[in-house]
Amino acid sequence: MNKIELSNISKLYGKVKAVDRLSLEIKQGEFLTLLGPSGCGKTTTLRMIAGLEEPTDGEIMAQQKILHSKSKGVYVTPEQRNMGFMFQSYALWPHMNVVKNITLGLESQKLPKQEIDERVKKVLKQVQMEDYGARYPSELSGGQQQRVALARMIASETDIFLMDEPLSNLDALLRVDMRSELKHLHKTLNATTVYVTHDQIEALTLSDRIVVMNKGVIMQLDTPEMIYHKPKNLFVAKFVGSPPINLIKGVVKKEGSDSFTFISNDMRIDVSKVDGVKKITENQPLLLGVRAENLSIHKKKGEDKSVPFSVYAVLPSGSETIITARRETSEVMVKVPGFFSSQLDETVEVVFDQKGILFFDEKSEQLLN
Ligand SMILES: Nc1ncnc2c1ncn2[C@@H]1O[C@H](COP(=O)(O)OP(=O)(O)OP(=O)(O)O)[C@@H](O)[C@H]1O
Ligand SMILES: [Mg+2]
Repeated sequence: MNKIELSNISKLYGKVKAVDRLSLEIKQGEFLTLLGPSGCGKTTTLRMIAGLEEPTDGEIMAQQKILHSKSKGVYVTPEQRNMGFMFQSYALWPHMNVVKNITLGLESQKLPKQEIDERVKKVLKQVQMEDYGARYPSELSGGQQQRVALARMIASETDIFLMDEPLSNLDALLRVDMRSELKHLHKTLNATTVYVTHDQIEALTLSDRIVVMNKGVIMQLDTPEMIYHKPKNLFVAKFVGSPPINLIKGVVKKEGSDSFTFISNDMRIDVSKVDGVKKITENQPLLLGVRAENLSIHKKKGEDKSVPFSVYAVLPSGSETIITARRETSEVMVKVPGFFSSQLDETVEVVFDQKGILFFDEKSEQLLN
């Protein structure tokens, strides 16, 4: 069992609450990502799991053993925790070649030479760096250095991997490459992995489950799909998704037994078919949230009920185009596949896909439907 359990973990730095009574169970073999803005407590949480930081309060267990508990007076050192790390700066030794960088940790574990040689060969193959063993870090590209750091972590053959923003120093193309390497590797090795990033795309692509954090607390713990489609609150809705989710202030009015309309300052949208609309209290101040791909844009009025907008900006990026459209007091971003040609200020018809509509309470910011 390589499950990790955090119960009511807090970390105070003076008056700063870096982590605030956080409880979390990381399942065996799971790829779990801590996602959140700068300063929300991701690194602190990871370092407490690693044993590099002592919690002010709470208990940490792994492999059904207590690793840290202040009340029970238990503290297991990082070395005894048997976890592999990879940090943001990959921390390769510049004066040692690739092989030496990998073997250093294994030699300190006093493993037999033959076993060390076999492991090095195996991990270098896994990260496709077989031919680079004799090179020094300065003779490698950023991505290659990253792979060596990864190889070093795998070579430890621990069942738990902890990674803190391991891809943040790479350029965009390499990052995409390394994402698939990491994902493939996780499927191959099945090590329980805790991964830290502030990049929502990275979290969505890699994780089995995502913990969205803000100010030291968990805002939502869920699968990438749920985080994206059913964000529990406005914070998660706004933090995940690109372009950001469209939000429009208004209220829902009941028009008949099965007929509901969303009314904002400057538009009326039929929301009769929105999931859970019947749960909404009439006239409750709320925000309608809809992702850019759940809006479609048309040059002419069609059969679906549409709202006229005027084109403010068209942003093509090859595979898709984002169109910013405005009307009196509202602005939306619409995502369409491929290219879209349009004139500035041209009037277009925007259709809201009711399957993608979410309602958030304006005051509590919680999801209502
Ligand atoms: N050693 C420290 N002393 C004092 N405050 C600290 C220390 N380490 C972290 N903090 C504070 O704790 C909070 C959480 O920091 P943490 O490094 O965990 O954030 P993070 O989510 O990893 O952010 P980032 O995305 O910027 O790496 C921040 O407010 C930070 O300033
Ligand atoms: Mg950090």
